Amino acid sequence: MLETEFLGRRLPTPFFIPSGIVGDVSRLQELDLSWCGLFVTKTITLHPRGGNEGIRVWDLPCGMLNSIGLANEGVEAFVRETLPKLASLEMEVLVSFSVYSEEEIPGFEGLFAQGLWAVELNLSCPNVQHGARGLIAQDPSLSHRLVRAVRRALHKDTALIVKLSPDVPFIEDVAEAVISAGASALTIANTFPGVAVDVNRGRFVFERVVAGMSGPAIHPIVLHRIWRVRSRVLDVPILGVGGVWNRDSALAMAMAGADLVGIGSALYHDPAVGSRIAREVEEFLQRQECTWTEVVGKAYGDI
Ligand SMILES: Cc1cc2nc3c(=O)[nH]c(=O)nc-3n(C[C@H](O)[C@H](O)[C@H](O)COP(=O)(O)O)c2cc1C
Repeated sequence: MLETEFLGRRLPTPFFIPSGIVGDVSRLQELDLSWCGLFVTKTITLHPRGGNEGIRVWDLPCGMLNSIGLANEGVEAFVRETLPKLASLEMEVLVSFSVYSEEEIPGFEGLFAQGLWAVELNLSCPNVQHGARGLIAQDPSLSHRLVRAVRRALHKDTALIVKLSPDVPFIEDVAEAVISAGASALTIANTFPGVAVDVNRGRFVFERVVAGMSGPAIHPIVLHRIWRVRSRVLDVPILGVGGVWNRDSALAMAMAGADLVGIGSALYHDPAVGSRIAREVEEFLQRQECTWTEVVGKAYGDI
């Protein structure tokens, strides 16, 4: 009942682990993944990155802040060491990567030559062009250029999924810009910027002050971003992610237009949350006598 089709693949469930939630892939062996249809890797960059100094995660009553700083082994080591380990997983794997500029794209040739069915381009990288401020994903024309250049470098059979930042006024403009550049699907969304103060130390918690907010607090705002995109763009699959923590938040995301639903930070608090959501959503579908596909976009009525 949970089976669904996504970009020509049959997935056993519409639920996925979003990028960065399980960074160390050897940990996957310890987890119950029967609920999960798709695993997205930690974002890799051209060069290895040590990540940010100081505190990296901060718990909040309504979610968490993280400042990992895209710590990763770099694309070469990823292709050599991590990718072979992922091949033994009994589920679809989506490799997430980020580029700071078009000049970096040739450095990913080794990854693109692996015959991957799809990749996820994380556009929430600082925009380094001409000393600009903000993220690449906050600039529709730059996002368009980068996606077009990545699309050209990819094998024609590799689908390009683009992960957007929710921290933009008109996310539908960025969505249209990347779709016209060749994106096959959109992931909505990455974390929001947030700041925490450690009152006992009288200092900002994070060395870089600003961190990424995830968890239940962002859920309605991410639904708003999905709604904005879905109301304008009807025919591109959406991977919804942001603050899903129980059955109803997962169903709400699907009804707002997400074809697949990610479960991220909630797994830190309760590793069993994924299997519980999958079981309860399945029971819901059985009671309502409908399929997952019928639930996707249901909130819009007949449009
Ligand atoms: C600790 C941590 C690390 C993350 N690392 C990445 C990353 O490397 N790449 C990425 O695209 N998103 C990353 N994210 C964002 C998540 O993939 C997801 O978009 C976000 O957490 C919202 O979903 P959630 O509220 O279910 O956690 C990270 C999130 C967390 C909490």
